[in-house]
Amino acid sequence: MKDWRSTYKYKLVSAHQALQSVRSGDRVVLGHACGEPPALVQALVARAPELSNVEIVNLVNVGPADFARPGMERSFRYNGFFIGAPTRRAVEENRGSYRPCFFSEVPRLFKHHILPVDVMLLQVTPPDEQGFCSYGLAGDYTQAATEVARIVIAQMNPAYPRTAGIRVHLDALTWIVEQESPIVQISPPPCGQVERQIGEHIAALVPDGATLQLGIGAIPEAALVALKNKRDLGIHTEMFSDGVVDLAQAGVITNRKKTLHPGKFIVTFLMGTDKLYNFVHNNPDVELRPVDYTNDPCVIGKNDNMISINSALQVDLTGQVNAEMIGSLQFSGVGGQVDFVRGAGRSAGGKSIIALPSTAARGAISRICPRLDPGAAVTTSRNDVHYIVTEYGIANLRGKTLPQRAEALIAIAHPDFRDSLSSRTAVRAATAV
Ligand code: COA
Repeated sequence: MKDWRSTYKYKLVSAHQALQSVRSGDRVVLGHACGEPPALVQALVARAPELSNVEIVNLVNVGPADFARPGMERSFRYNGFFIGAPTRRAVEENRGSYRPCFFSEVPRLFKHHILPVDVMLLQVTPPDEQGFCSYGLAGDYTQAATEVARIVIAQMNPAYPRTAGIRVHLDALTWIVEQESPIVQISPPPCGQVERQIGEHIAALVPDGATLQLGIGAIPEAALVALKNKRDLGIHTEMFSDGVVDLAQAGVITNRKKTLHPGKFIVTFLMGTDKLYNFVHNNPDVELRPVDYTNDPCVIGKNDNMISINSALQVDLTGQVNAEMIGSLQFSGVGGQVDFVRGAGRSAGGKSIIALPSTAARGAISRICPRLDPGAAVTTSRNDVHYIVTEYGIANLRGKTLPQRAEALIAIAHPDFRDSLSSRTAVRAATAV
């Protein structure tokens, strides 16, 4: 390998200089979640008056997403794989769009040039002795986009945690911007009584020695709290946050019983606070892998007793799960939900759990409903679904007929809605019997 030091100094530029490489009409991919490079995105947005028709692509946004602000539409269009608070309005107002795709398949779109990448903006750690930088908090599609982009611009941030697993060599970077930025802090949301009850039901489904996937949010957090008396849990997941650190430090998560990668936390991105970032920094047991590996249902299924825990907005009486739309409004995205539902379905002893409060809008709406709202997407299909959990209990839908499913789901609906859900008309409409 040639000495990277000889070329390094020629690649060092300011953010302003590096972002001159972006041309009108380019597709710019941003490093995912906490891997988004704040200094580079700011410098890109500063070029708005000179640019037109630049497409911005990423998945979870943790930054302000200034490129999606009203007035930016001549310069930038946001076409993301996930919609969140900073981008929802742009999509509602048709200044951007949602791109349906399983998280596991996003790298393939880049690698196979279905979505050619012009410019990749990512965040990396400073290099090691051999010139390798860590992808830090985001491996996911970040590695694939980095490999195929015409121009790769990296913000080299000394504050960025160095994780084990995949890494990128300086030779793969076109421009390097050395700039320290604080890492985004995302605190766990508070858990209420409903989430705590849901957490207890989830814990009842998790055996000692299980391997877990859980997302971020009040329900996964409550589930982790409820798991504190388990033994030898393991982690093979899309992402994890501070709650996993608490259980690891308490000796509940040991990864000892994992049948794939024993001893290791396998993850594709990380999002939390400094508690998490300090835990993963230089920790050889936490391995960052690309999302087409972590979320591949065949890989997930090699973990015995794989338990996936995800949430939803609505479930109909046949078991169709909507986890991404409120009516015809794109609220979030599929993410890795279906990848893990299918992976857990392939695992010996595996279970997929979709957990949600029984109502929304302060009790005015039942989330267990005869049919999904008009316009809503099916995120997890009724063919894939396994366990549904609310604060009222657990419905195991696998192998059940349509009327049996309706009965099991009505039993875990809020009591105020059970009569209307049980009415002949509602059940017949839902199950077409
Ligand atoms: N009708 C109308 N409004 C509804 C609703 C329904 N059926 N269901 C939920 N809402 C409202 C809630 O009341 C809440 O409004 P508020 O903020 O004003 O209180 C809002 O929608 C969000 O609902 P909530 O249940 O609090 O969402 P959440 O933050 O827990 O996220 C998902 C839940 C399903 C959106 C989220 O888990 C997701 O995006 N999942 C898909 C991706 C995935 O599973 N990834 C894998 C793991 S990383």
